[in-house]
Amino acid sequence: MDDELIIDPWGSSQSTDYDRIISQFGLQSFSNLDVIEPSKLHRRGIIFAHRDLDVVMDSISMGKNFGVMTGLMPSGQMHLGHSMVVEQVKWFQEHGADVNIAVADLESQATRGISLEKGREIALTEYVANYAALGLDPEKVDVYFQSSRHEVQRLGFQLGKKTNLSEFEAIYGFSGQTNLAHVQAPLVQAGDILHPQLDEFGGLRPIVVPVGVDQDPHIRLTRGLAGKTNWFNVKPGPKSGLVISLSVQDENAQQLGVLQNGRVDKGTRNNIFNRIKEKMSALGFSDIISNPKHGTISLPSAVTSDKNRIKMKLLELERSLGGPGLMSPSSTYHHFAVGLTGNKMSSSKPKTTIFLSDDLESVKKKIMKSFSGGQPTLEEHRRLGGNPDIDVAYQYMMYFFENDDSYLSELNAEYRAGKILAGEMKQICADRAEEWMSNLSEMRDQTSHLVTEFLANDAR
Ligand code: TRP
Repeated sequence: MDDELIIDPWGSSQSTDYDRIISQFGLQSFSNLDVIEPSKLHRRGIIFAHRDLDVVMDSISMGKNFGVMTGLMPSGQMHLGHSMVVEQVKWFQEHGADVNIAVADLESQATRGISLEKGREIALTEYVANYAALGLDPEKVDVYFQSSRHEVQRLGFQLGKKTNLSEFEAIYGFSGQTNLAHVQAPLVQAGDILHPQLDEFGGLRPIVVPVGVDQDPHIRLTRGLAGKTNWFNVKPGPKSGLVISLSVQDENAQQLGVLQNGRVDKGTRNNIFNRIKEKMSALGFSDIISNPKHGTISLPSAVTSDKNRIKMKLLELERSLGGPGLMSPSSTYHHFAVGLTGNKMSSSKPKTTIFLSDDLESVKKKIMKSFSGGQPTLEEHRRLGGNPDIDVAYQYMMYFFENDDSYLSELNAEYRAGKILAGEMKQICADRAEEWMSNLSEMRDQTSHLVTEFLANDAR
């Protein structure tokens, strides 16, 4: 077997071996999931995988509460790549999500040496200003700072109890030399992702985190941590159906009827099992086989698609018994747009990207100089055709600037056929980019008064 792939969220390399990532980390493809009113990122396969997005799609179709969570690292300028996440957040917002945005000022301070004060300034002027300009509605948006939201820090600290250095080594490839800021930051980020479910931040509901694959280690960690806090597990039965089991931990032993001497207190245990049975009958199950002594309840007629509803009821029960009742977050994954040079796009390398505050002249220059999928000579290009898959100008039309699918596929076909030249493709892209960028800057002026409305009370 190949070496295991390890994704380093702080590293400068970026794996684009997406098939391998999907299979090694168990991401789900979209083949079995219909996205209603798909955005251009969905339609073009740029958003290519997910975890448990079906839970969120159910909330959308039933008009139930759910949230979307993202975070920003206030360290440099906002660029085109960052705008992709905003587009996704906006899509979820338009489909009913409340929006939670963490300013990762603690992480930026610890891993990039940016002071909290500077982090705040960057967050507001570079990021939130562009969120407003890109069309996020400040209604039902909470932008907060990790440094001033104590519940996030508290939760991160508590979740630390559910993991250890071996797990961090396995997920992040840490070694003895690893700076502990890289241990703290993921725990705070887990706090970010799970805290919207706390009662004071909206309560139990699905939360979806749209990310690039570089952030998946944090998602895996967080999902694992949430799962480990759960008092009740739901697993497939030995032959069919689903089985609910108790997860007895230091924190819940008493409530789950485990006595100091390890024996089971029948009264308490039966009481809990009766409440589980009530909840399951309310969901419509009549065949319920309860085994309080073993700590299991079988639902022989339940099928996989019942799992989410069952889990939700059990989390409610857990909360009513005093537990945290945390749901594992859902996530979606997008491909990264290539950098202007044909390599990785990076905010620390201005030549690889377009910053949202770049002036039109430099945007045009950057695109005209970008890496091309054209042939070396005109004659060859006409004969062999260009390659839009590696052509930055075409790629940026697809990722950022062009909404019209049929025009895009026309460009694709004509480029491949050698009818559109590399320079022409760049010109087409530069024109559209100019339009997009000047529209954005106009919107920034028009929405600048909204910036403070995006801030949560504890961020003002
Ligand atoms: N670590 C993320 C980054 O580097 C920022 C972040 C902090 C984040 N908290 C989050 C992203 C919660 C998603 C959800 O960009």
